Amino acid sequence: MVPLKLHALVCLFCCLPWVQPFHWQDPLPFDFRSSAWLQKIQAVMSAASSGHSKIPKGNGPYPVGCTDLMFGYANESVFLRLYYPAQDQDHLNTIWIPNKEYFFGLSKFLGTPQFIGNILNFFYGSMTTPASWNSPVRTGEKYPLIVFSHGLGAFRTIYSAIGIGLASYGFIVAAVEHRDGSASATYYFEDQAAAKVENRTWLYLKRLKQEEAERVRKEQVRQRAKQCSQALSAILDIGRGSPKENMLGSDFDQKQLEGAIDEDKIAMIGHSFGGATVIHTLSEDQRFKCGVALDPWMYPVSEELYSKVPQPLFFINSAQFQSPKDIMKMKKFYQPDKERKMITIKGSVHQNFADFTFVTGKIIGIKLTLKGEIDSCIAIDLTNKASLAFLQRHLGLHKDFNQWDSLVEGNNKNLIPGSPSDVVTLSPALYHSPGSHTQN
Ligand SMILES: *[C@@H]1O[C@H](CO)[C@@H](O)[C@H](O)[C@H]1NC(C)=O
Ligand SMILES: *[C@@H]1O[C@H](CO)[C@@H](O)[C@H](O)[C@H]1NC(C)=O
Repeated sequence: MVPLKLHALVCLFCCLPWVQPFHWQDPLPFDFRSSAWLQKIQAVMSAASSGHSKIPKGNGPYPVGCTDLMFGYANESVFLRLYYPAQDQDHLNTIWIPNKEYFFGLSKFLGTPQFIGNILNFFYGSMTTPASWNSPVRTGEKYPLIVFSHGLGAFRTIYSAIGIGLASYGFIVAAVEHRDGSASATYYFEDQAAAKVENRTWLYLKRLKQEEAERVRKEQVRQRAKQCSQALSAILDIGRGSPKENMLGSDFDQKQLEGAIDEDKIAMIGHSFGGATVIHTLSEDQRFKCGVALDPWMYPVSEELYSKVPQPLFFINSAQFQSPKDIMKMKKFYQPDKERKMITIKGSVHQNFADFTFVTGKIIGIKLTLKGEIDSCIAIDLTNKASLAFLQRHLGLHKDFNQWDSLVEGNNKNLIPGSPSDVVTLSPALYHSPGSHTQN
């Protein structure tokens, strides 16, 4: 049982790797059978409590505020965390993971005993992220809008380094929490009576059998795309001066957002399963003018979409996650007259895009594949600045983000233009090898 527990703990912090089908068979990042698991748990805990857990502040000129919004009931409701330019940074910082059930959700779906959830809640439950909770919105300017989609086993709050980073440069970022069974945990209210007494219904990650995986993942990505479009519609309504009832009953006054959204400047960003969601959403919803897919999980992306995404697409990949087959799938989106870009961040891992990369020390982080060889702050900074340059170009912004245009081309000592397997994908033999399009 001991090895199982440690395996689970590794996954718990990675949050994603073992649930990525491409990685199911991968060896674990270190040999848990022979390691003293108690020692490792202690190491993680000391990392958690020793102040290493710093999620970076935004580098841009705007203070950043944050609030949560939930509209509607049951699994049809829209739930999102909103990052926005704020008037000041005087308010208390935002609780990073605000309910213990999220920690239980992580431990539950990984099959660990509930005490692991309790331990995580104890160490991380009061951790904050540097955005002022419910701080007044900075008025007098229209902001471009980004809808953000999370990865498998994640949820709305754990991409705050990106949400805060972009909001600090003058974006409103709506990080949705998906209700398709792909979040570790999420909650809703069944009806008005339940909302009134805060009787939450928790929905945990849906476990899949091997034989249903493909069907369910494709169904989930469709639901996710729909949720992103619903979230966009809700925010646009609020921007047009029609506030909606927030089931969370917060003090945040939605009227502040009236006239604050630049409706012609809307984009989507997502990580992993959220990257696949970016591609799907863009194919169905032309209100999104461009998309950035961070290390997208290509498995649920249908082939029929290859020619159905007219908007510009930017792939920002980690150094290890994508197989040549995945890269080939991305390259299928490269069609005449369509704007496509791809870069790879050297020395990075799949988890470099989520906040977990900031919550442990370097050694533990690398062992748990939360961190790569590259400094996590540098990796997220490159991600944000390359995204900003791409967004400026394709949303027609009048800012100075074009100073980072070279990053979009991969011209930086920490970047590779395209992918490390580009040489491989040029081989005609590989292009036509049997099974190169089948996924498992
Ligand atoms: C909501 O739940 C119902 C019944 O359980 C299900 O049929 C439906 O697909 C769910 N909708 C979403 C968006 O998950
Ligand atoms: C909370 O909701 C559930 C189902 O939605 C219901 O069975 C339960 O009685 C409710 N609890 C309270 C305290 O209202």
